[in-house]
Amino acid sequence: MASYTYTPTPDYGAKAGVLAYLVVSAVVLLLMMVFGLIMRLEHSQYTEIGGLWFYKLMTLHGAGMVGIVALAGAAIMWHFLRQYVELSTGIFIANLILFLTGVVMILASVLLGDFHAAWTFLHPLPSTSMGLWSEWAAAAFMGGLLVIGVGFVLLHLDIARAIITRYGGLGRGLGWPQLFGPDDGNAPPPAVVASTMVTIVNLVGLVVGASILIMMLINLYVPSFEVDPLLAKGMIYFFGHVFINAVIYMAVIAVYEILPRYTQRPWKANKVFLASWTASTFMVMFIFPHHLLMDYAYPKWFLIVGHIIGYLNTFPILIVTGYGAMMIVYRSGIRWDMCSRLLFVSLAGWAIGAMPAFIDGTITVNYVMHNTLWVPGHFHTYLLLGMVAMVFGFMYYLVKPSEHATDSAIDVAAFWGFVVGTMGFTLSFLYSGKMSVARRYAGHLPEWIPYDRIASFFAALLIASVLVFIFRFLAGLGLAGRDYQRASLARSLAT
Ligand code: HEM
Repeated sequence: MASYTYTPTPDYGAKAGVLAYLVVSAVVLLLMMVFGLIMRLEHSQYTEIGGLWFYKLMTLHGAGMVGIVALAGAAIMWHFLRQYVELSTGIFIANLILFLTGVVMILASVLLGDFHAAWTFLHPLPSTSMGLWSEWAAAAFMGGLLVIGVGFVLLHLDIARAIITRYGGLGRGLGWPQLFGPDDGNAPPPAVVASTMVTIVNLVGLVVGASILIMMLINLYVPSFEVDPLLAKGMIYFFGHVFINAVIYMAVIAVYEILPRYTQRPWKANKVFLASWTASTFMVMFIFPHHLLMDYAYPKWFLIVGHIIGYLNTFPILIVTGYGAMMIVYRSGIRWDMCSRLLFVSLAGWAIGAMPAFIDGTITVNYVMHNTLWVPGHFHTYLLLGMVAMVFGFMYYLVKPSEHATDSAIDVAAFWGFVVGTMGFTLSFLYSGKMSVARRYAGHLPEWIPYDRIASFFAALLIASVLVFIFRFLAGLGLAGRDYQRASLARSLAT
């Protein structure tokens, strides 16, 4: 077996652009979490905001969370990928500006225009408001998503250009010569393999998403331009599912890059690693039909393919990453600090969160469970304890004052508060799902309320812990930029 050359390169703090992405992510994450808590308090009947505000908050929370975790994931991917390929800082910043522009449009649509058709904007709901919101509000929401999507398309095109220039093609970025041919030990590092995969699937997903958004925008003003609702649903779920799946594949780059620095052991991009990323590149694009299993109008073969591929895709990258992490951590003498703890627990969160999806992907279960809180239970687990934990781990990594600095008791308490809070919050969703509590209902029946109240308590604990993470990150921002400026200065003096 060939010896792989990947060893972690030194990291000199973060560029201002990466820090700007992370500051925006921290603020928006916190705000959206508070919106989520308000929804849970409403279920618990501790508040009385009413249906209109519940659905306005649900729309903002869904769109806001999906967008912001994508932004945070992009910051992680860009930060590490630029150690291997030449990326454009201008395009990276343009993506942030387009993102913020889209956010303003979405905020205006929901807060001023009362749009509340959920982030999934299923056709024909946005154009059939029955007087609850106006045309301009629907247009601003869909236009905002489109503007955000354009930013991500630009970012991924730039990444594709950079990988093709450095490695000679996207197949080479996925390590195909080493996967399908003799193993010369020169496979691209995991960060490049993951970025190539995300770029391929997101470009396809975003083009499909932009196409349906444009069709729906035209239909909004020219109703004679008809859009087939079933086709629209398929396109929206394809785009939405690929996009939200891709966020964890961007964020996991932090695990591949940072854990080897802690353990001084390389993360091997061997044949199994490369095969799992290539397999998921294709499978991620075919698993969305588990959201459509109740749509009898779809061809049966299409749903069966979705069912089988949904099962298969649960495992490859997750197992390869979980096993790889255990191998490089085992007896490595790793220093457990906030960063390494959060990154390690994120893999457990990802694995735990994937299991309810696996169960829900079974057609007979899906008929009963899919419209219950079981589904938010699944994705909140893997996003919060998996993806979001990776983001906070990365933030702690950037602001660590020195290699041997120890964590304060408050940070450690916040870590456990985050883990316990998230598990309690998501298990309440899952248990409610098991008890057939409907998803996306503003008002809950009296017998559902005990679960909602327990969930609210854990959500508050989780948010309090996140406040500590964010405070630490914002307070340490100077440190994160300082190392980068010093390294840049040293490099320019040396040349
Ligand atoms: C403190 C943290 C959070 C709380 C309290 C919270 C709460 C909620 C609640 C109450 C719902 C509505 C459930 C329903 O009745 O159907 C919801 C939906 C949702 N949440 Fe969260 N959430 C949190 C974190 C997150 C995170 C981190 C993400 C993504 C990264 C996320 C993404 C979503 C999405 C996509 C929906 C679906 C909205 C829809 O059905 O249209 N949430 N959340």
